[in-house]
Amino acid sequence: MRKVIYKQFGDESVLELVEQAVPTPKQNQVLIRVKAVSINPLDWKVYGGEMKLMSGSKFPKAVGIDFAGVVESSGSLATRYKAGDEVLGLLDVFKGGALADYVVVQETDIALKPGNSSFEEAAALPLTGLSALQIIDKLAAVGKNQEVLINGATGGIGVFAVQLAKKRGAIVTAVVGTEGVAQAKQWGADTVLDYTRQDIQRLDQRFDAVIDLSTKLSFKAAKKLMKSRAVFITTLAAPVTLVRSFFNNLFSSRKLKVLIVKPSAEGLQTLAKLAEKDLQIVLAKTYSINQVREAYRETSRGRTIGKSVIVLD
Ligand SMILES: NC(=O)c1ccc[n+]([C@@H]2O[C@H](COP(=O)([O-])OP(=O)(O)OC[C@H]3O[C@@H](n4cnc5c(N)ncnc54)[C@H](OP(=O)(O)O)[C@@H]3O)[C@@H](O)[C@H]2O)c1
Repeated sequence: MRKVIYKQFGDESVLELVEQAVPTPKQNQVLIRVKAVSINPLDWKVYGGEMKLMSGSKFPKAVGIDFAGVVESSGSLATRYKAGDEVLGLLDVFKGGALADYVVVQETDIALKPGNSSFEEAAALPLTGLSALQIIDKLAAVGKNQEVLINGATGGIGVFAVQLAKKRGAIVTAVVGTEGVAQAKQWGADTVLDYTRQDIQRLDQRFDAVIDLSTKLSFKAAKKLMKSRAVFITTLAAPVTLVRSFFNNLFSSRKLKVLIVKPSAEGLQTLAKLAEKDLQIVLAKTYSINQVREAYRETSRGRTIGKSVIVLD
């Protein structure tokens, strides 16, 4: 089978497509024929060596965190899924390995694919969908009539965060690039601001939750946008931010919370059900596995709306 690996940290040119044996599932594992894999900023942060502390420095390493595919076979103790089931799933974000024709996973890493989604759409759901779910429901605990600012609202997480915040009854301000204004309105945002034309730090409005998905808004800057009892969510899980959040939250009513996304089969099922109902999954561009370097080069430049996906045929 084909698999994307790398033997040193670097830019996308370190990625290689190699041939490997198809893995055999252990007793409690499921073998999946992968159909599509989504591209995430965490991929290039990990193969770029920015997350060595968590990923380790032993090579070769593999790429690809979330995927959709078809169950091929299961170990004797893995009974939840049968051959032919269409599923989506999430691997360890620091180990990856989904960019391959086959992957073995625990049953708890997967859920049934939404019946009305393509494999490409389903692959775009796990990591960013779970991130959005955990941000909106746990970290920010968004509720009815709360004023929520989502900075970076047309990216992978943002697309879902806007829609989930609206489902919880929030009043959502989405901050996006010029190309994303119309779409953010269509996902339900009450106010849409174009960050290329407006400096959000000059807003008069104060929010119950400020969610930064761009990694460009500091807590210090965000404080000016927060009500006296409000929460700021960052996705930058650096050790220094975690320490800062601990001490800040002891003494301040303006809380700093850090996303560390947790795998959750239950969360995947919730997302799949929402997608079957009305949660929109937005695809930017699809690539073939032979275009893996081009796919990462283009996607890492930003300015895409929704998620780009690599298709395995
Ligand atoms: N800690 C965790 O557990 C965890 C889990 C998942 C993801 N993450 C991280 O979370 C971040 C967001 O993930 P994602 O998948 O949503 O990334 P993404 O798809 O790259 O989205 C980032 C968004 O930020 C926007 N942006 C860039 N500059 C901006 C600015 N100055 N003001 C406002 N918006 C701006 C981008 O818009 P343009 O297209 O206009 O540039 C884009 O829509 C990434 O850094 C990712 O690595 C962390």
